[in-house]
Amino acid sequence: MYVIAGVSGNTGSIVANALLEQGKKVRVIVRDATKGEAWKARGAEVAVASVEDEDALTKALEGATGAYFLSPPDAVSQDFIEARRATVETIARAVERSKLPYVVFLSSVGAQRETGTGPILTVHYAEERLAKTPAKTTFVRAAYFLDNWASVLGAAAHGKLPTFLPADLVVPMVSTKDIGLVAAKALLAPPSGKSEIIELSGPRDYSSREIAGVLGKIVGKTVEVEAAPLAAVVPAFESFGFSANLAGLYHEMYAGLADGTVVFEGKGARQVRGSVDAESALRALGAGK
Ligand SMILES: NC(=O)c1ccc[n+]([C@@H]2O[C@H](COP(=O)([O-])OP(=O)(O)OC[C@H]3O[C@@H](n4cnc5c(N)ncnc54)[C@H](OP(=O)(O)O)[C@@H]3O)[C@@H](O)[C@H]2O)c1
Repeated sequence: MYVIAGVSGNTGSIVANALLEQGKKVRVIVRDATKGEAWKARGAEVAVASVEDEDALTKALEGATGAYFLSPPDAVSQDFIEARRATVETIARAVERSKLPYVVFLSSVGAQRETGTGPILTVHYAEERLAKTPAKTTFVRAAYFLDNWASVLGAAAHGKLPTFLPADLVVPMVSTKDIGLVAAKALLAPPSGKSEIIELSGPRDYSSREIAGVLGKIVGKTVEVEAAPLAAVVPAFESFGFSANLAGLYHEMYAGLADGTVVFEGKGARQVRGSVDAESALRALGAGK
């Protein structure tokens, strides 16, 4: 039995679907029972639990062979790092109490660093805490999501690609489909030792200008990169409804991407490349429709 959290989201849904398609027993964790109905119809067990509820989570993990977790986003948190630290503590205690033997956790490029990575510090702490549980662990350190471009597809249709990345900075990027498939595979094949780190990118890395080129091909017109200065990050994220705390963390993350702080560690990790390129990912997100 494999327990999957985040099944109403990007990566968890792919993980659960991939395992169900292979005939594996799956128990999905949802916060709202109605979101479990479709999974039940497909043969999955449904556990209603928040990753902030230690007792419910412990029960959801009982008897499982392995579980997939992520650090859920929370745009309005006033203290994002501490709130996510508490969430990870709850997950870790539930892992310990349920005697779960194996956790696959969605981490991030840059998770090896203790400073200069903004919100990525949450998964640095998560890796540290989960490594202290008796469970085996695989940390899937994902590159910058290709799916992040979804929010600017409207602008791209009008020939503009707003970004906080320098136009010619080449960055590893990956689709959430690849992440889900790699995480599902990892769940079925625990590491021989206590822990493994997978650093996961798509089939190739891209600059924002190259993404603009791909979008231009899809929408049939020239798409120009509009690289905004770092000073624009906080006001922009606040205008999207993010807390000032989280907006500040995103400023740090974009600065860290630009200055080479937010990079893969390399040594000690297994480098994996997925198969979904930017064109396929952007078309799947609705580009050109
Ligand atoms: N964006 C990037 O470039 C990037 C790069 C590397 C790593 N990451 C990591 O990827 C994560 C997002 O992964 P994703 O895209 O698969 O997630 P997602 O699509 O944002 O979905 C989040 C999922 O978590 C669930 N959730 C939220 N709060 C919960 C709680 N308290 N208890 C149980 N479930 C809860 C949500 O369920 P509900 O339906 O109940 O809300 C939803 O299913 C980020 O948080 C970050 O850690 C992101």
